[in-house]
Amino acid sequence: KILILDFGSQVTQLIARRVREAHVYCEIHPCDVTDDFVRDFGADGIILSGSHASVYEEETDRAPQAVFELNVPVLGICYGMQTMAQQLGGKVEAGHKREFGYAAVRARGHSALFRDIQDSTNDEGHGLLDVWMSHGDKVTELPAGFKIIASNATTPIAAMADETRKFYAVQFHPEVTHTKQGQAMLNRFVLEICGAKPDWIMGDYIAEAVAKIKAQVGDEEVILGLSGGVDSSVAAALIHRAIGDQLTCVFVDHGLLRLNEGDLVMDMFAGRLHVNVIRVDATNQFMGHLNGVSDPEAKRKIIGREFVEVFKTEAAKLKAGTGGHKGATFLAQGTIYPDVIESGGAKSKKAVTIKSHHNVGGLPEQLGLKLLEPLRDLFKDEVRELGVALGLPADMVYRHPFPGPGLGVRILGEVKQEYADLLRRADAIFIEELRNTKDEATGKTWYELTSQAFTVFLPVKSVGVMGDGRTYDYVVALRAVITSDFMTAHWAELPYALLGRVSNRIINEVRGINRVVYDVSGKPPATIEWE
Ligand code: XMP
Repeated sequence: KILILDFGSQVTQLIARRVREAHVYCEIHPCDVTDDFVRDFGADGIILSGSHASVYEEETDRAPQAVFELNVPVLGICYGMQTMAQQLGGKVEAGHKREFGYAAVRARGHSALFRDIQDSTNDEGHGLLDVWMSHGDKVTELPAGFKIIASNATTPIAAMADETRKFYAVQFHPEVTHTKQGQAMLNRFVLEICGAKPDWIMGDYIAEAVAKIKAQVGDEEVILGLSGGVDSSVAAALIHRAIGDQLTCVFVDHGLLRLNEGDLVMDMFAGRLHVNVIRVDATNQFMGHLNGVSDPEAKRKIIGREFVEVFKTEAAKLKAGTGGHKGATFLAQGTIYPDVIESGGAKSKKAVTIKSHHNVGGLPEQLGLKLLEPLRDLFKDEVRELGVALGLPADMVYRHPFPGPGLGVRILGEVKQEYADLLRRADAIFIEELRNTKDEATGKTWYELTSQAFTVFLPVKSVGVMGDGRTYDYVVALRAVITSDFMTAHWAELPYALLGRVSNRIINEVRGINRVVYDVSGKPPATIEWE
């Protein structure tokens, strides 16, 4: 197993994720653990993460000295490299030039870390690596026993190694995907240099997570707000695996869900997994408050507020305990690692609110409940893998994201029951066709090829003709985008035949809609949702 010591970099979890991708078990611990902790851990190898600090600020973190005395391989990354250099007698200086972004470095010598790993070669046949740099300080003098294993003009000591002691250090970030060979380097380090066994699988994660949840919860009870989305669903399945009936889920149906969504969630969780789920049908409450409101932000605020109200009421009942339940003391949330980074302020606070996102932050304090977040360390794709390993159906786990305010932001302007009903049916047709149509070149369905797709209801009427009669009905817009992070997005180039089929079916099957348009706007300047 691998010990990762965290010096506070934003991307430490990415190191863990890459190690898990090599199927090696790892744990992240803060860099100030004791020497005894490091000795007792029994690591096959140790990785020192990056940090925002600068090594020669007075009070900065150092690795426990035991790291360098255990006779196990050590890999220092960015700050980890600098502290390694400093602690072993080398020198670090403030860079006059910050290096940030892509850089090519030349691999030198024949280090075990980079052997046969390269992106290209230069004129003299030396291997070149495309890497991601983000640093100001740099190592300017090697510690005794080290040699340079990669360099470029800005950073002459871009990587160093003492191959006898198996100490390696890189100034760049192999854990980010921008460093193309990063996974290869980390595989090399953990599997070959450390000799760690690649026997870790998602099933082991379940066993560990279950044990942790049991230890944390004991014989207390837990409430979880189930939305039907991936994160809360996987959290529910995992927690249920750990504590069974000590978990109760609350599923709030605000009347703005996709077609049959409520029944599907209930069938899955209550029916198949035997999880305690309370379904609250709050459609009238939401529709009542939304009546006459057409401003997008006002609608979002109302939906968010009512959601919290309904949830709080149910949670208070559960907290009080009834019928064999002694009362909940924990609130579980499906927070995943990217949410942790976002709320930690890693992203700059935007000056303007483009959209107020629906979330239930702050609830645990208001409710006086302790927080249980078993997915905090995982990335989205790992959460999905975990969901499948827990027995959730793949098509549920690999669904496109669905916003908390639901159809409330896909019905432009005032939300009406009639609009929601039409939209649900049109949207179900669009999604069904995307799922049933394969792209010949890739063999994948268009649902898989798009990151998010949905239908938007436009409350305007246009004239049409059907049979011999005139129609005067509503318009829907189809939206399908391709994106990796949802911050920017391209509209998807869906085949015309597919668009044509969707349009025909919607107009024929959903009486009340006589026109279908396709949204060809990217983000920016448009956003993915229309409101
Ligand atoms: P936009 O429309 O801002 O959407 O380009 C980016 C992504 O965020 C989703 N979205 C939301 N998700 N609560 C959510 O949970 C919200 O209030 C919300 N608003 C937008 C949107 O569906 C897209 O995936």
